[in-house]
Amino acid sequence: MVIKIKNICCIGAGYVGGPTMAVIADKCPEINVDVVDLDQDRINKWNSQDFSKLPIYEPGLAEIIERCRGVNLNFSISIKEKIENADMIFISVNTPTKKKGLGAGKASDLKWVEACARQVANHSKGYTIVVEKSTLPVRTAEVIKSILKTPEESDKNSKSFDVLSNPEFLAEGTAVQDLINPDRVLIGGERQEAIDSLSKIYSNWVPKNKILETNIWSSELAKLTANAFLAQRISSINSISALCESTGADVREVARAIGSDNRIGSKFLDSGPGFGGSCFKKDILNLVYLSEYFGLPEVASFWEAVVKLNNWHQHRISQLIVKKLFGTVSSKKISILGFAFKSNTNDTRESAAITICKDLLEEGAILKIYDPKVEPFQIEKDLEVKNNENIEDNEDKKFNNKEGTWSFCEDVYETINGTDAVVVLTEWEEYTKINWSKASKMMRSPAWVFDARSITNQKEIKKAGIKLWRIGDGLN
Ligand code: NAD
Ligand code: UGA
Repeated sequence: MVIKIKNICCIGAGYVGGPTMAVIADKCPEINVDVVDLDQDRINKWNSQDFSKLPIYEPGLAEIIERCRGVNLNFSISIKEKIENADMIFISVNTPTKKKGLGAGKASDLKWVEACARQVANHSKGYTIVVEKSTLPVRTAEVIKSILKTPEESDKNSKSFDVLSNPEFLAEGTAVQDLINPDRVLIGGERQEAIDSLSKIYSNWVPKNKILETNIWSSELAKLTANAFLAQRISSINSISALCESTGADVREVARAIGSDNRIGSKFLDSGPGFGGSCFKKDILNLVYLSEYFGLPEVASFWEAVVKLNNWHQHRISQLIVKKLFGTVSSKKISILGFAFKSNTNDTRESAAITICKDLLEEGAILKIYDPKVEPFQIEKDLEVKNNENIEDNEDKKFNNKEGTWSFCEDVYETINGTDAVVVLTEWEEYTKINWSKASKMMRSPAWVFDARSITNQKEIKKAGIKLWRIGDGLN
């Protein structure tokens, strides 16, 4: 029998929990959806009256929140109460790489998942379907199941659970579209009735043939594998970009040529400054850890190479900027356009911009940074160097142009003004429209553009007398 779900609780109001539950609430008006989190500040932002203040920027998300919030979608910190009420609980908490202890630097830290499972074990009532939405190492469902069997003795007989794996494949910046029109929804589980209950929810808007059912371990492993394959394509094309620069080939032409082979396909072949985001690196490292754990060192080193190449590629870009600017950037002003790890998001986790900016600061550059969605406090946190504008002390203000410092700018031209070079690190659309003839008059000569995203107008740049380096352009 398919259990009809009336109340969903999602633990974790982050980049996945927030948008995913918003879309479920929007598509299933008969289901009440509660999103809970430990972080009061984040919940306050989700409840903000000003929809531009939601904690996550995603195109189309604010409109859905406006429609559903207070109707069948609620954000709160009432974790115990919402768990008690729920027939289905999504675990959508963070699973970062472990910083210390066994598996440090590779394995996923499951302490937040474990805490959720304990909360569910203690507070749930009756029969509950627990859904793994977080990306988890294969066989985590086993851990969750064993924790769910440990509520206080008096409660033991009144509770029962099914655990499903339902990994999320949304990409940031296109989360709403990805959720509304997914390539597939993956549900791994053991008991068909539980699988059917979740499948029924998705079938409100996802065609049946796109809802894939697998065993629970395949589902967990498929998520890690999907991210590893995607990231591997980026490292592959980025490795070729370096070869293009040395040989006179053009990586865009190479990508077009190989991508038109149906077996390869054209997506995920944009060479850039190296992949960022909270998941690719952590998920591959997790795969590396699992391979080592299961005694497969060759498999581990195969996947580890994808991450190593990405690290190398990011440093390669900062080094070549220094080389092109006569071997030193000390006290030179450089504009950084874009800090988010990709466009249409305010997320900076693992952004290539962090590595590249840190390298340039280390070399003594003075950075002027502008990103339309990233707040200066976030950049300060990521770079671990104070924003010049926040320096209160008068003495320090005099040294505003001190080497190895940065400041935040409010628009493109303010950023470019007075700099020797512009470095494009995120593919924001507004950077494609820069008036380079205007920009060149504001820059110190010889002016440079380093375009790591291939989005600027090269003809205009050259016409304006600016030197141009583009990723993977052998004719640079
Ligand atoms: P996030 O850090 O944005 O959000 C996680 C939230 O969980 C935080 O707000 C945190 O306060 C909350 N939390 C942690 N422990 C809690 C607890 N015990 N009780 C209540 N709340 C708790 O993370 P995210 O980006 O949403 O990612 C969540 C998971 O989804 C990760 O496993 C990630 O790998 C996976 N994933 C992420 C994306 C993405 O695009 N970000 C896409 C697919 C899958
Ligand atoms: C990625 C996957 O695309 C999602 O399917 C997955 O759900 C998610 O990870 C996750 O598990 O977190 P996301 O990291 O949000 O999504 O964004 P992507 O579009 O995959 O971009 C990741 C990084 O790769 C970005 O830095 C992006 O600029 C870079 N990239 C992407 C390239 O350099 N070239 C490309 O062709 C594509």
